[in-house]
Amino acid sequence: MASDPSSSEELVLSFLAEAGDEFVSGEAISDKLGLTRAAVWKHVEALRAHGYRIDAVPARGYRLAGIPDRLTALELRPLLNTHDLGQVLHTYEELGSTSDRAKELADEGAAHGEVVVAETQTAGRGRRGRTWISPPRRNLYFSVVLRPDLPPARAAELTLVASLAICDALRQAGVDAGIKWPNDVLVGGKKIAGILTELAAEPDRVHWVVVGVGVNVNARVEDFPAELREEATSVAIERHEPAPRALFAAACLTALEGWIDVHAEQGFAPIRNAWRERSVTLGRQVLVRSDGREIAGVAEDIDEQGALLVRTPERVERILAGDVHLLRPR
Ligand code: BTN
Repeated sequence: MASDPSSSEELVLSFLAEAGDEFVSGEAISDKLGLTRAAVWKHVEALRAHGYRIDAVPARGYRLAGIPDRLTALELRPLLNTHDLGQVLHTYEELGSTSDRAKELADEGAAHGEVVVAETQTAGRGRRGRTWISPPRRNLYFSVVLRPDLPPARAAELTLVASLAICDALRQAGVDAGIKWPNDVLVGGKKIAGILTELAAEPDRVHWVVVGVGVNVNARVEDFPAELREEATSVAIERHEPAPRALFAAACLTALEGWIDVHAEQGFAPIRNAWRERSVTLGRQVLVRSDGREIAGVAEDIDEQGALLVRTPERVERILAGDVHLLRPR
């Protein structure tokens, strides 16, 4: 369901979240938020009832000691410092697919930056009709409605924008992620995140783009079907400890907004450079399946439109869509 603008309870939570490990006095909170001390206490109690751990120490005040591992607006909103992304949040316990819901909302007029998040998906979709494994309360599944000022031919650039953002959020979380063209995020050759970009457009105008992001955050090996166990990983598997999903979701949205702004203001060139720096594809011997063809060669670069350039013995092939298999290092 969509969430209303911040309540006093959320404001108290934001204040505590901003203070990090520090204590804040009840007086400071009541002065800042224009609440009585009794109201502050009431909100602290309500937050505790929602699963937040809040220390209260006489003469020092309150300190946020733990947030529940849930992805509702109450957890997410205080962590967001974005101007558009996630300012309207639609959070669900279960959906078929967050991207399907985001597309419906976009058709109904959802604004740029509205985000749909679900704790689990019963019909999570990957690229090329694949299924996206979506175990409940383990990972991150979200879709963002974007209304970019771009001709349809350039909308695919947003796929690379999103892969950069998710790669950066993973690196901030201590995971050595890289990008396989066009937008698979890998760690040690295993997939940790995927991005699905869909759009509605007229010949000269994009109505909306929905960027769907799935990140394996706390999935355990046994959460993946047997056939994927050698191919997929998660933040928890890589770091040997679970990650706080709400914090990670906020980091993804912040990074995504940052790169969307760079793209809107400076175009594709800085995206292309940043993507190249994070690529695990370029310089590698690859086999690309595209339009029923198999192309083997060396992935040399991406061009000004984000297409992959593969040098074969005969020519340089320009690939707009396809599946890339990384072969031996060059
Ligand atoms: C891929 O790598 O094939 C893309 C995977 C995209 C998965 C995400 S999970 C959130 C959103 N909802 C979906 O049904 N798919 C995307």
